This record gives sequence, C-alpha cells and structure tokens, in this order.
Amino acid sequence: MIPDKVPEQDVILGSGDLKKDAHIPTFEKYKELYVNSVENPEEFWGTLAKDFFWKTKHTGQFFNYNFDVTKGEIFIKFMEGASTNICYNLLDRNVYEKNLADKIAFFWEGNEPGDDLTVTYKELLQRVCQFANVLKSQGVQKGDRVSIYMPMVVELVVAMLACVRIGAVHSIVFAGFSAESLCERILDSQCSLLITADGFYRGDKLINLKLLADEALQKCIDKGVPVKKCIMLKHLSKVPEETAGCNSPPPKRSCPDLQEKQAGKVKKIRPVPQVPWNPDVDLCWHTLISGASDECEPEWCDSEDPLFILYTSGSTGKPKGVLHTVSGYMLYAATTFKLVFDYQPDDVYWCTADIGWITGHSYITYGPLANGATSVLFEGLPTYPDVSRMWEIVDKYSVTKFYTAPTAIRLLMKFGSDPVQKYNRKSLKVLGTVGEPINPEAWQWYYNVVGEKRCPIVDTFWQTETGGHVLTPLPAATPLKPGSATFPFFGVVPAILNESGEELTGPSEGYLVFKQPWPGVMRTVYGNHQRFETTYFKKFPGYYVTGDGCRRDEDGYYWITGRIDDMLNVSGHLLSTAEVESALVEHKAVAEAAVVGRPHPVKGESLYCFVTLNDGMTFNQKLESELKKKVRDKIGAIATPDFIQNAPGLPKTRSGKIMRRLLRKIACNEKDLGDVSTLADSSVIDQLYQNRCCSAV
Ligand code: PRX
Repeated sequence: MIPDKVPEQDVILGSGDLKKDAHIPTFEKYKELYVNSVENPEEFWGTLAKDFFWKTKHTGQFFNYNFDVTKGEIFIKFMEGASTNICYNLLDRNVYEKNLADKIAFFWEGNEPGDDLTVTYKELLQRVCQFANVLKSQGVQKGDRVSIYMPMVVELVVAMLACVRIGAVHSIVFAGFSAESLCERILDSQCSLLITADGFYRGDKLINLKLLADEALQKCIDKGVPVKKCIMLKHLSKVPEETAGCNSPPPKRSCPDLQEKQAGKVKKIRPVPQVPWNPDVDLCWHTLISGASDECEPEWCDSEDPLFILYTSGSTGKPKGVLHTVSGYMLYAATTFKLVFDYQPDDVYWCTADIGWITGHSYITYGPLANGATSVLFEGLPTYPDVSRMWEIVDKYSVTKFYTAPTAIRLLMKFGSDPVQKYNRKSLKVLGTVGEPINPEAWQWYYNVVGEKRCPIVDTFWQTETGGHVLTPLPAATPLKPGSATFPFFGVVPAILNESGEELTGPSEGYLVFKQPWPGVMRTVYGNHQRFETTYFKKFPGYYVTGDGCRRDEDGYYWITGRIDDMLNVSGHLLSTAEVESALVEHKAVAEAAVVGRPHPVKGESLYCFVTLNDGMTFNQKLESELKKKVRDKIGAIATPDFIQNAPGLPKTRSGKIMRRLLRKIACNEKDLGDVSTLADSSVIDQLYQNRCCSAV
C-alpha cells in the first residue's frame, strides 16, 4: 500500500511554485483521495462525472465487474444505463457551456518549420460536424468500424471525432505500419471505410501513404473482403490539378509555398507525390466536405458502447484489437490528464507521441480536449531539421507541460546540452515520460538540462490496455525517484505476485498485476473475448496481468523492470518476437527463426534475429538485406531488425522448445550461460558464438 511518509533523502521534490494552485498539492492529499477512490469508487468517479454532460443518468450498478476467471466470464461495466457522446463533451460542451469557442485547441506544427496553423474549439467542432455528415452520407452508422491511416494532421483528430460523434468505432493504424499490417487490421475489425491522406514527409523522407493504402486495399480484395470506400485527404498536394480525381483544393494553411520560400521563412519545397486514383473506391475529402453542413446532432451512446479499437502486439504474433468503451475511457483519460499533468487553463501542453498509438489517443485527443486544453500537434521529427527542433517549438508556443518518450530523450542526450540551451524553455513546468523504463541517466539529463531542476518528471507507466496512466507520480505531490513510476493512480490497486501467484508484501520483485478494474481498462479483444481472458486473466485468476515485471522498494515505490513475456519494447513500441519470426520464415531461404531483444543505447531494445536456413541456401549480405526488408514490408519500419545472424542450429530443449534465455546472452556476447543441462545438443552453442554478427560487439 501507499507508505504513510516518504523519506526526504534520495527523493526529488516537485517544484514549490507548482504547489500553489495544484489540484493535488501534497502527498497527504494524494493518499486521502487514493483511499477514497479505492474504497468508494462510486463516490470518487461519480463526483468527477458531474463535470460531463450525460443525456441520461446511470441507472444500474455504478461499477459492475468480474475480474476472476474461475467465477465466470470476465466483464467490466461502468455507469451502466448512462448515455453520452464523447465528441459532445470534448467540443460542444467547451464551446457552448465553458465559453471556450475561441480558445485554441491545437497549434499544428508541420514537418517543415514555418508550416503551421491553429484551430480553435469552435472551428474544430464545425469541421468535425461536417466530416460526421460526410461519414453519414457514405452510409456509416452507429457501431460501424472505420479505419484511419493518416499522418499527424488536424484532420486526423477531425476524422476520429467525427466517428465518435455518430457512434462509429475508429480503428487508427499508425502511419508507419506497412500495407500488410494495415490490411490485417482492416480485416480483423471488419472496417467498411478507410480514411487516409496522399502522403507526408518525415524529415526528408516522403511517405507515399496513398500508395500503401491502395496496396492494403488490394490485399483485402485478394483475401475476398473488399473495402467499399477510401476517403483521401490532400495533405501534400496544394492545387486541384495535382491529384486527378480529387479536384477540390485543400483548405489554406501557411504551407511552404514559393512566396514563403522567397521570404526566407521556409527552407525547402517538397515534391508532391502522384497518387493513383480509382474512381470506384476513392473519394476526395475536400470535395465531400465542401457541401457538408457544419451541424450534426450527436448520436447518444450507452456507457459500454464501443468507442475505439486500437491494435497492440500479441505474443502469438497476431495483433490484438484492444477495445475501449465510452464512459469509463472518457472519465479516465480526462482525469489522468488533468491530475498527472496538473492541467491549468493557461497551459500549453505538448505530447510528442503519434495519435496512431494509445498515448496519442488518450493524451493528444481525448484527455486534453475533455479539459478544454490548448495543445501542440506536431507532425515532424525531434531531429529535423536539426536536434534543437523540440526546444524551438517549446519556445515558439511557450509550452508549459511536455510529454515524450525515453527513447527521444536518449537520442537528444547524445548531442549534449548546447542544442537545448540555445532556447530558453522558461515556460516549462512539468515534464513527462512514457513507453518504456527510463534509465536514471536519461532521467537526470531530462531533469537537469531540459527542465533546469525546476520541473518535476512524471514517469507514467501504462499500456494500450489500461487506457490511461496506472502508475504515476502527481507532479506537485509525489516525491520522485529517478526511474520509478512511483505509486498507483486513483482507483488502481497494484500487487506483485511470485510465480505461484502469491501476493508479495513489502520490498519484493515479481509480476505486476492489478486487483480491481478502473474505469479506463479495456473491455475485450475485438472479436475474441476468449483471447482477452486468456492473455490477461488466466495466469493468475482474480488479477489483471500486465506482462511486466516490477520491483517494490523499501519505501513502497514501484519500479518497472520490463516485459516478462515474449514482447520487445523498441523505442517505446511493443513488438512480439513471434510477429517478427513469422515474417522472417516467410522468406524462402529461412527454415526457422528466433528473435530476441538486445539492449540498445537509444531504442532501449533492438531486434537480434537468429535464422536457420533451408538446405542449399547461403547466408550473405544480400540475404540479410532481403530479410530486413521482408520484416519492414510485413510489419513496418519500427520492426526493422538491427542484427541478423546465421544460426545453422538453435539451442533447444529435448522437447524442442527454443531456449531464448541463451540466445539473449549470445546476442550480448555474455559468456556465462547459467544452467544448460536441459539443452538437447550443446554443440550448437559454440557455433552460435562464432557466427555472432561482427557489428554486434
Ligand atoms: O512494458 C511496459 C512499457 O510499455 C508497455 C505498454 O506498451 P503500449 O501498450 O504500446 O503502450 C505504450 C504507451 C502507454 C508496458 O507494458 N511501458 C509503458 N510505460 C512505461 C513502460 N515501462 C516502464 N515505464 C513506463 N513509464
């Protein structure tokens, strides 16, 4: 449980300035509210729910659930009987009830410095209503699934909220995923419509998104399930003629055009991709929207109606469609955002994640908009055009709360403090991290150099499945320990179990589990409730199993030690070893593959792949490149292996199970393998050491 007091040595206290107006100003206050949230969830969440609009009030039990597989089906129902619409709460409520019509919802900052625009709450509402009407005119109805494959543009938020407004379920696929991954997700969620864009630039690199989308749609046809319509946004094309079939001009933004280039404001002009156009399927976003009304009555949804599906890697290799529902997710995303970033009305908040991941869903779209916040929406890269870009943007918009991933911090750290110190960053008040454990060295650099010891760091532990932060400091209340996600958020009850499923008390290390649901927890795996139960509830009945290892120290602080299943965390993104292995064995030269994680100074972990070739095949550089490409094409660039090693034999037990523990050591060139007595053929080991990739020292 939460300690009564935390020792003041070895901890870093939040900034005094923050405490003045903080929502949770002290550790004592946190404790008091925490106890109430756990013992009396109805009162705790019921009070918070009063700030939202409900078309009908809840009637059933406030929180009704079964978390124990031995007692029957797992279910979680929150505020049953209530009906609402999240889009209404995010936009109409702010525009009409909270007087925020003219407040900026997003400062959009493009890949190219100088390419930017702003959108107010009122404008966002109008655009969402227009697009909701477009979706309706295309036959999209409540409960239908819509796939979204877009870059980081305002229209991505418009598309997702338009779905929400009419009760459709969005399934956003990160624009870095391959055509194959997109196709797999479209088919699994049975989407009838795809929304995409012509393309975008990541730094200097053109991503021709429409081509990938078309490839994905062709794959759907090949599998016998054609997608009816594809709406394309012109993001790069600026004039009508540039895209045959999509003849309406996109709305004006301060795009890098010739005039601006001449004025010296924008450095580069980018070529625009030619996009293929199939008039039977393709529709132009701008043509559709030009005649659409900007009024659209929201569809009132029940608390437990599906809100969105978001895919996350699964240990079997097939991604899981994590399903979140309306009321619980809304309250949880809104509350965690408000308290964890200590959101204040004059804040300018910036989360650098992509909306294609859960962090972007909860902490770019839902949490900030539910609070009427102003956010930065950034399309570009931290290193483009140079490694000062983040801090330039912080100063440009006077960002107060900044949220990023440890991998970005480690990447920028390599360039030293000069690029940071070129900008003043005086506006910053709270810094956050998410996605993977942050090593104390990166934590200290973030704290000392970026935040100049003024800004507490909220190291937020959570998952696609948890909907929002579950272990996290509160910036004015929690004394910090670098590298620890500290204590549970309200309503969350963590425990640490040993292999036999016994709860450990006091300082201990083991499996991190949660003992009861909180409003934002996922409700099912789309189309496969059994997989939901097996993955999260079977191993230790009565608990939600995170799949992460965790240590609790003598002061009660929680420290995530990393995944303890067959998952890898590359640059904060989860990948399953099985997913990569199945891509590798698709190559005709490969008989068998085993993939392990190898520590990486920037990415956290990198992929180290062992491949056994079919008879007569030769391992050479050409094959290595082909295999890397195979994985990239199948999954996406984030999954590109760093190392591929020829492994004529793999270490296996007598029952044929690959001993990954040994492969992890071999990948790191560690010689102490521990107990190898269960190995069927120990001669493979020497050969594996000899064949190690020479660059992987
Ligand atoms: O292993 C944990 C790690 O990321 C996993 C969840 O990944 P995903 O569902 O893609 O969501 C990422 C963004 C919420 C977790 O199981 N993880 C996330 N945050 C942290 C973390 N590991 C350590 N510390 C964190 N703060």
